[in-house]
Amino acid sequence: VARVFSGIQPTGVPQLGNYLGSIRNWVRLQGSALGADGAQAHEQYISIVDLHALTVPRDPGRLRADTLEMAAALVACGIDPARSVLFRQSAVPQHAQLHWALGCITPVGWLNRMTQWKSKQQQQQQLAGGGDPSLLAGLLTYPVLMAADVLLYRATHVPVGEDQVQHLELARDIAAHFNKTFRRALFPMPRALLTESARIMSLRDPLRKMSKSDPLTQARITLADSDAEIRAKIQRATTDCGGAGAGVTYDPAARPGVSNLVAIYAALRDVAPQAAAAAELRSLNNSQLKAAVTEAAIATLAPIRDETRRLLRDPAHIEATLRAGEDRARAAAAASWAEIAECIGLRHH
Ligand code: TYM
Repeated sequence: VARVFSGIQPTGVPQLGNYLGSIRNWVRLQGSALGADGAQAHEQYISIVDLHALTVPRDPGRLRADTLEMAAALVACGIDPARSVLFRQSAVPQHAQLHWALGCITPVGWLNRMTQWKSKQQQQQQLAGGGDPSLLAGLLTYPVLMAADVLLYRATHVPVGEDQVQHLELARDIAAHFNKTFRRALFPMPRALLTESARIMSLRDPLRKMSKSDPLTQARITLADSDAEIRAKIQRATTDCGGAGAGVTYDPAARPGVSNLVAIYAALRDVAPQAAAAAELRSLNNSQLKAAVTEAAIATLAPIRDETRRLLRDPAHIEATLRAGEDRARAAAAASWAEIAECIGLRHH
């Protein structure tokens, strides 16, 4: 059977890149068939990865509130808790257990090659003025926990944005290494599923990806933004001109700013590929393009924002929804872990 797994950090409400790059794909996968035969049924697990969030020191109360807010936002985006198993990672202890077991067969060299780790290392070295970077061990082993997430459910498909593809390749390497070490075809090889908008860029610097951790709030749209905030951020987005009379074109290398807006428009209006959206918008100047993107963004995001707010008025209900998902996730994880523990010689049952 096909099994889908994906995760998101509890950052409070998601930003537009999270939504267009992955959440929307999770919503779509709920209603569609997977696999070469086009008719394969599948289960989908969506985890709010609060253990991963600990790699950035957070206030405990804030982390708990952000986790609940993320759950509300996911449901508002269309994640149906009856069709997707929606749960907090920390509610299923086998994630941490499998993380340990996989860490014990993963060479540190594989982790040192991860670009996200390398850039964190660089950032911290700069902050520390080139002195002792005092990097947390959790940042290095972060992708091992991610591999554990995916492999625990024997996931076959993992819908993510482009920035997670390398981590997923590592998960495949770890899976293959495990199967070989213990001479069992226990883990299927998980495949990344990308959308057309797998890399939404910052509105201020279109050469960097849109990110929740960007210190410039103007650089991202979040699913909590008011219509006025959405409008102001898009109006101030960095654009580039293609020469007199060029109009709107899609050319990410030459015109990253305009192309990012086209990509956002295309995703919001469901036009593919992006060049087709550019053709539709060709006659507009940059400020008309921004007006079109703003209109599309508000049409999609305002209902999600309002529904998130409505859901957050009843935190007990969100909590109950998560708990129901966690019962299902724990049952699957316990059965899977028993088999893994048996395989590597640990106590099981
Ligand atoms: P996170 O929480 O940073 O992001 C969640 C998802 O959003 C995608 N994404 C983007 N897509 C397009 N454009 C962007 N600018 C953009 N920014 C973020 C991410 O690729 C991701 O799919 N480590 C993961 C969470 C995780 C996970 C997993 C994912 C933990 N375990 C197992 C898949 C499978 C993360 O930090 O995602």
